Amino acid sequence: MTSNTSVRLARRPIGMPVADDFRIDIADVPVPGPGQVLVRVTLISLDPAMRGWLDDRPSYLPPIGLDEVIRAGGVGEVVASNESRFPIGCLVQGNTGVQEYAVLDASSLTRVDPTLGTPSMYLGVLGMTGMTAYFGLFEHGRPRAGDTVLVSAAAGAVGSIVGQLAHINGCRVVGVAGGADKCAYATDTLGFDAAVDYKGDTVRTAIHDACPDGIDLYFDNVGGAVLNAALTNLSMHARIVICGAISQYNAEQATPGPSNYMALLVRRATMTGFLVFDHAAEFRTARRRLARWVADGRITAPETLVPGSVTDFHSVFLRLFTGDNVGKLILDISA
Ligand SMILES: NC(=O)c1ccc[n+]([C@@H]2O[C@H](COP(=O)([O-])OP(=O)(O)OC[C@H]3O[C@@H](n4cnc5c(N)ncnc54)[C@H](OP(=O)(O)O)[C@@H]3O)[C@@H](O)[C@H]2O)c1
Repeated sequence: MTSNTSVRLARRPIGMPVADDFRIDIADVPVPGPGQVLVRVTLISLDPAMRGWLDDRPSYLPPIGLDEVIRAGGVGEVVASNESRFPIGCLVQGNTGVQEYAVLDASSLTRVDPTLGTPSMYLGVLGMTGMTAYFGLFEHGRPRAGDTVLVSAAAGAVGSIVGQLAHINGCRVVGVAGGADKCAYATDTLGFDAAVDYKGDTVRTAIHDACPDGIDLYFDNVGGAVLNAALTNLSMHARIVICGAISQYNAEQATPGPSNYMALLVRRATMTGFLVFDHAAEFRTARRRLARWVADGRITAPETLVPGSVTDFHSVFLRLFTGDNVGKLILDISA
């Protein structure tokens, strides 16, 4: 334990982030204060939301400041501790940032329980993205057995879990994903009833064909053209859950709103946004339920673990925007 390499924000990206937007820093390993622990980071979560935090724009969290460590979830091992609940050697999940060592308040940490799942699952199905799928679908989407549920970014971390949870709930599930391979993955491995390739198909026609009785619930991870197409095929009293809009995160100009939004009026439909962190008080319960479904084989929890070091952050992060991930994307710096 000699030095700490971190990735910091060198300047604010315009459009798709480039390597020069980030700076590698090497400093001394920090020392934990009272109530804090020092974590050796092993797994770093890559999340689309990180792109928004790089912009100087008001959001639900403050922007990452220039020269600050890139904010990220992570898992690691406690290597120095001033808190008896987190002794040296235990594994924790928290906001580690993109760095090798992090000093964190013990009160902000979740201990990894190996009886529930693997450390990487604490960034995926048992972590933030699993919680997003669970609360976004059940609390905000309110699925009913027999509903047709459409979910975009269907082979991604959130989308893959949403679709499977909807299935458990007795819904007919249609995924939207980029490319034939991801569509085949959604139907053959995740058990979706149908999938639409938004890159290969005429998305509006394909959604109509895959949802002949209309969409009762659309769980939207991407916004843009797919959202606009879904709006044209809503059933009466449909619900649209706005989870994210990744198609717009690197936009250099203001993106136009969905021109088909009057469908909400015609179909007496609702469109609701939500933030996973608002459900933090219930994460424990949700984690146990999700862990049981994984253990029972009712949920497959796909992950793309990329081995490397923190200096690989930029190239691995971009995979989210090129679609070069299936399930939860994680930079594995454990070696
Ligand atoms: N509301 C909340 O509290 C909350 C919490 C967590 C995440 N989210 C949101 O949930 C969504 C999914 O996040 P995730 O972590 O699960 O990521 P992910 O789905 O694992 O990865 C992102 C996926 O988005 C798709 N994509 C990228 N660019 C696209 C484009 N231009 N048009 C359509 N699809 C595109 C790619 O899949 P394809 O290959 O299929 O294109 C890519 O694999 C994001 O919008 C994120 O911001 C919201």
